Amino acid sequence: MLILGIETSCDETAVAIVKDGCELLSNVVASSMDLQAQYGGIVPEVAARAQIEYIIPVLAESMKQAGCTWTNIDAVAVTYGPGLGGSLLVGVMTAKTLGQIYDKPLIPVDHVQAHMAVNFLTKTSLNYHLPKAPLEFPALCLIVSGGHSQIVYYLSPTKYEVLGKTRDDAVGEAFDKVAKILGLPYPGGPSISKLAKQGDQKTYQLPKSRLENPYDFSFSGLKTAVLRLSQQVIGKDYTFPSLKIAQHLSDQQKADIAASFEYTAIETLLEKLIKAEQEFASKNIVITGGVSANQYLRTRAKELFGAKVHSTDPKLSTDNGAMIASQGSQIYMKNKKLVDYKSLQIEPSLQM
Ligand code: KG4
Ligand code: ZN
Repeated sequence: MLILGIETSCDETAVAIVKDGCELLSNVVASSMDLQAQYGGIVPEVAARAQIEYIIPVLAESMKQAGCTWTNIDAVAVTYGPGLGGSLLVGVMTAKTLGQIYDKPLIPVDHVQAHMAVNFLTKTSLNYHLPKAPLEFPALCLIVSGGHSQIVYYLSPTKYEVLGKTRDDAVGEAFDKVAKILGLPYPGGPSISKLAKQGDQKTYQLPKSRLENPYDFSFSGLKTAVLRLSQQVIGKDYTFPSLKIAQHLSDQQKADIAASFEYTAIETLLEKLIKAEQEFASKNIVITGGVSANQYLRTRAKELFGAKVHSTDPKLSTDNGAMIASQGSQIYMKNKKLVDYKSLQIEPSLQM
């Protein structure tokens, strides 16, 4: 069984092929991130135009890497949401066209669920370190990305309960916004964690949100607290514009703010995960999504949960086609939700 997965929900254009639901045969990702960095963040039209430019070469390269022809492919999985409308449309239109001309069924994939599914991959001859043993259920999963922070309790690859989710800014978004205040390049996650290594986590005390549902997340208060702290550190009041703060901060002050922010954001995620682990019986704990590339998060999770942590290569944390092909394989194996090219539509606000 060969499933081709297409991902175009934001600024990555990615195509991968997965065999029998566990072996990654190809994974090709092009990104307009450098282009977005010139604007300090994602500009939807710029992202969508780059998707159009990249999709055909990425598709061709992925087929070549896997040594596949269209006769070998069983179905085409594609992200249909959540994401940016224009970007999603490029992937979905490509999948619809491929479905029609090669007579293949299509598998609509939820991008957020796919961040979990990438952890089902255990075999590859490509340059990725995959977990050797398959993920065991029930499993608790922390999905942390630029658009989502949620804790999900999985009973099987396709049966789950969302315990809590983002109430406002997702954790990755908070990293991106704090990086902007500190004058660091987009994407903020890697920039902050690099600088944080030179800072002291305990320099500044930042607040952790308290919500009615202990598994929900809110990071907009933390982002505002960093803004107020930065204004205070340079001796200005709350009216001082955020984009002018960085030029008044010393390198050490920036590193200390980055470290204090990273510490508070990651410890907030972990506190909720510890609580969930105490309440829900689990065999594995999965940490996934763009923010799970964060080294401090990975190290702390290992300290707290030991061998129970099931993690994949950090290179597969951020958006890619492997996650879509993997989730598509799970759906295909259950023979659920296959559609034809006429009925597939994008759903930018799709919720798990
Ligand atoms: O999963 P992803 O590629 O896209 C979404 O589905 O949103 O996640 C992108 C997010 C960005 O906000 C980026 O800043 C964050 O992941 N990120 C990180 C790190 N690498 C990427 N956050 C913290 N530490 C990192 N090392
Ligand atoms: Zn993502």
